[in-house]
Amino acid sequence: MKLSLKALLLSCTLLSSVNAAEKSLTIYSVYPGDKLEAVFKPFTERTGISVNIVEGKSKNLIEKIKNDGVNSDADLHLDKDLVYHNLATQEGIYQSFNSKVVEENVPSNFIETNKNWFTIFYRSRVIMYNRDLVSPTELSSYSDLGNKKWEGKLCVRTSNSTYSQALSASLVAHLGAKKALDVFKSWVANFSMDPTSSDRDVIRALAAGKCHVGLVNSYYLAPFIEADSEYPVRPFFANQGFSNAHVNGVGIGITKYSKNVKEATMLLEYLSSKEVQAPVAKAFDQYPVNASASISTTLRDFGTFQVDKINVGTLGNFVETAKELMTEAEYK
Ligand SMILES: [Fe+2]
Repeated sequence: MKLSLKALLLSCTLLSSVNAAEKSLTIYSVYPGDKLEAVFKPFTERTGISVNIVEGKSKNLIEKIKNDGVNSDADLHLDKDLVYHNLATQEGIYQSFNSKVVEENVPSNFIETNKNWFTIFYRSRVIMYNRDLVSPTELSSYSDLGNKKWEGKLCVRTSNSTYSQALSASLVAHLGAKKALDVFKSWVANFSMDPTSSDRDVIRALAAGKCHVGLVNSYYLAPFIEADSEYPVRPFFANQGFSNAHVNGVGIGITKYSKNVKEATMLLEYLSSKEVQAPVAKAFDQYPVNASASISTTLRDFGTFQVDKINVGTLGNFVETAKELMTEAEYK
């Protein structure tokens, strides 16, 4: 009897692993499959659940998931920042996830209020400066970049970049529309050149002394410093001690009509785990949301900072106003 029970249990285990082996998840992703292969391979090895990546541009992916509705083959949606996740939420493509594990691993500010999606890893939009021209003691807040002392010395990316939009949304959220508009106008008055379409170009302009201060996502600086430890550009984490550094990151959510919710939830839990967080965040030069995961030495050298605790979903609700105000301020 004892033996047959054991045999029964064994056959159940085999059966469930056979079922798992037949399972697959499809992720609609702004990142290509080869960039994510190292992330998902161990998941497949561990669970037998294969992962297919469908790559596309942010708006196209969201639109396809929405238009395909109940017939969509997408189980999960992965994008690079809160602006697109907010758009996806508004388009109704997600269902709330239900996982205590994710909620234990991920701080609540990184989980959208209705649990439609959460941030996997993040960066700060930092003030970067040329250290030969600027002392960090001269720096404080995002708003202060509109101070007269930076006239003709500020470089930024265009206002149609979602990175600019998310930062501007945080100013609207913390300062209100009127003050935020004044800040955007004061930045425009200080531009040393037209906004660029690339964060890397801001870094290069800083290094060349074409501007003294700029706004850039933290991860873009890592390769420059790793290639040349004397590279003259350094990051400064803004707004410390008041609203704290604006953060934004790569996120993921389960689609509304996924037929594999159990497996999709397993993948979310896997992504939030300490073991996966450290290497994945390092590969993207970003910070793991799971605070127990380690960070790269380059990021450690950037220094510690306090993160703005406003919820990533709440912040998304200020994006449209921020875009209108940037236009009004003639922020190109
Ligand atoms: Fe980027």
